[in-house]
Amino acid sequence: MAVSIPKPALPSEFLVDNRVYTDPSVFELEQERLFLRVWNFVCHASEVREPGDFITTTVAGQPIVVCRTKSGEVRAFFNTCRHRAAQVVREERGHAAAFTCFYHLWTYDLEGTLTGVPEANTYETSYCPGGIDKAATSLVRIRAESMHGLVFVCFDERMPGLAEFLGDAFAAELALPLGAADVRVARDWANELHANWKMEPENSRDGYHATLLHTRLRGVSPPRPFRVYPNGHAVQLLGLDYHAGKNAGTLDGILAEQPDLVARFMADPLPGMTLEEPSRIITIFPDVLIAIRYSTLLIVKQIPVSAGETWFETRYAYLAGDSAEQVDIRRKHWRMYWAEDGGNLPEDWAAWEAQQKGARSIGVRYSLLSRGEVADEGMRGDDNRVRSFWAQWRTYMGTSENAPPAENA
Ligand code: FES
Ligand SMILES: [Fe+2]
Repeated sequence: MAVSIPKPALPSEFLVDNRVYTDPSVFELEQERLFLRVWNFVCHASEVREPGDFITTTVAGQPIVVCRTKSGEVRAFFNTCRHRAAQVVREERGHAAAFTCFYHLWTYDLEGTLTGVPEANTYETSYCPGGIDKAATSLVRIRAESMHGLVFVCFDERMPGLAEFLGDAFAAELALPLGAADVRVARDWANELHANWKMEPENSRDGYHATLLHTRLRGVSPPRPFRVYPNGHAVQLLGLDYHAGKNAGTLDGILAEQPDLVARFMADPLPGMTLEEPSRIITIFPDVLIAIRYSTLLIVKQIPVSAGETWFETRYAYLAGDSAEQVDIRRKHWRMYWAEDGGNLPEDWAAWEAQQKGARSIGVRYSLLSRGEVADEGMRGDDNRVRSFWAQWRTYMGTSENAPPAENA
């Protein structure tokens, strides 16, 4: 039986067609039109600090390896052997003098050049008298650029560079603490989210839910300014309040009752952080969240797996000179605020998975993005940052509505 309810009487930019969260063909189009074209964050430069350091990851469904070359450059390659397509580097991270594919032991140097082929003379044949052309059989490079320590890759040679993608004013928001020489970033926990990848970027741009879903934030997290930047990026300033009082028993109450722990959380600010602007959420289009709380910092990077499955990866920062105890306290600071088992995240996580289940409904086609007057600056509590995400999504997807592109609807 067909279900039909009227479309809300709003301009289309204030609506999201819920099929964009569940439709496998939209997911495939996003890989092709968005993730294969946009600049995708892959790691912080400190994760590949020394020549030979590498990480592997998946971007737009593509297996890639990012490494520091002998000359100190950060390079990215398709992590696919030129011989018979095996994944060359199979560890998540590590240090290597060269990359040797385990299948037939072809070896590539850190610059990606093929240097070793066992029994290479067997490739010298009547139809290929010169044998293997090693220079032409190197790992295939992908564009990799950095801004303030954040390393991004882009598969599309026609797209402008990273600096243009981020823009000067927004890039300045990233300079501290992330670009400081002594900042180190480490991977923390990761987990499989049973929800579409767009749930998290919407949520991290949505101040409305902050004190409604997260009851612990009521009365301790008053609205602060937000700024929307070109290309779908945004910043939301936040306070940093550990109050007891009516929050006794909540996270903030618990922390307020442990002044020693709060004092340790506040003892070593990250470079550039001040008590006047102690905390902020930085959202980089499409799916990166950087949340800073004075002495600690979290980076979320998602790896979309399918329309309803997303690999959710977190990182945190510390300083090169930190003692083991200082590193631990920075991590604990985050984990009390936003970890898989603590703070706000379990509530956000449950909301995203509930959205994913609800979005399957054929009776409710649209979600609403109509909160607040349109503005590029203001206070938390409206949908402007969420709308800026969707405006950029439409640009990449080549559609005028937040809906499956017409040819796929
Ligand atoms: S597939 Fe890599 S050496 Fe054969
Ligand atoms: Fe939240």
